[in-house]
Amino acid sequence: MARRHIVCGLDVGTTKIVSVIAEVGPNGYPQILGMGECPTLGIRKGSVFDETALTKSISQAVLLAETMAKETIEKVYVASPVAIQLTGWEVFEEQLANSVRLTGLRLAEIIPSVVAAAEALLTDIDKKIGTVLMDLGGSTSSLAIFDGGLLVHTYSLAVGSEHISSDLALCLRTTISEGERIKKALGLSTPEAADDLEISSVGGHEQRKVSPSAARDIIESRVKEILELALQAIHQSCRPESLPGGAIFTGGGSLLEGLLPMAKNVLQVSQVSIGSPGKVGVPGEKWISPVYASAIGLVIYGAKRDFRRSGRTSGWRQVLDKFT
Ligand SMILES: Nc1ncnc2c1ncn2[C@@H]1O[C@H](COP(=O)(O)OP(=O)(O)OP(=O)(O)O)[C@@H](O)[C@H]1O
Ligand SMILES: [Mg+2]
Repeated sequence: MARRHIVCGLDVGTTKIVSVIAEVGPNGYPQILGMGECPTLGIRKGSVFDETALTKSISQAVLLAETMAKETIEKVYVASPVAIQLTGWEVFEEQLANSVRLTGLRLAEIIPSVVAAAEALLTDIDKKIGTVLMDLGGSTSSLAIFDGGLLVHTYSLAVGSEHISSDLALCLRTTISEGERIKKALGLSTPEAADDLEISSVGGHEQRKVSPSAARDIIESRVKEILELALQAIHQSCRPESLPGGAIFTGGGSLLEGLLPMAKNVLQVSQVSIGSPGKVGVPGEKWISPVYASAIGLVIYGAKRDFRRSGRTSGWRQVLDKFT
């Protein structure tokens, strides 16, 4: 019996780690068997400050996926954000590689998470005509510009959706988790005649009321900052008008209510959309979300890389290329 071809992807984000295990069929199409998620421990401000904690989180995410998949894996493709403030990307990459090895897994490769997400979200046509993919994560925002079928520019900012929650916490004198709740409930929408928001103070002893428009202004100014920085990054490579594919947003930050109209306005692109992975089947509704685009894209990437390494004939490759 032919050996099964199993691929594992591990997206190490600043807020959560997601592991995906897929079986690559004879047609080259990865079929997801299991997914696992757990909070990221041991990483702060772009640096691994607790290797043991990070190693534990990685093991936990992999174990959850292995249990669902009923498979044991040996090798992983890893994706991580690139915006690193303190130590620099190379140092972080080495630290991350170390934590992966400490789990007993073999590291195939580390790639930027926005590049992994592109595998799950962008079509050949998107890549050919010119499209920017923006991954709005917890502590980072990354973009990748594709044109003429190639990746032509990547850029990463050390600011993400968690900054919106901490701005709300700071300005409204409440906790980060309250900031997070308000961000998700309100987004950039302006409800007509909305009631005041009830928030708990730091320490949770008293409830206060704040106007939704005040909260919205706080959210808006941070989102605007992220989008303006993204626009500057796009300008390093091209004019936004020269990207007919427009901007595709992904990552948990892309779920912010009302993001798209503001993004279209600031970035001056022809079209904007949210990219949610739908090309490969996922084991349940929960996983159909931009939050998991990088992890899912990784198994598509891994399937391709393994194929290239194995040097098989082109029929397999042709099929694979159709869905990337
Ligand atoms: N419905 C929602 N509305 C607004 N923001 C949301 C929503 N759901 C999730 N988020 C935000 O998305 C962020 C997490 O996104 P994601 O899971 O892509 O991060 P990550 O991959 O761990 O981080 P990074 O890519 O920076 O390493 C959190 O700040 C969270 O508050
Ligand atoms: Mg991410």
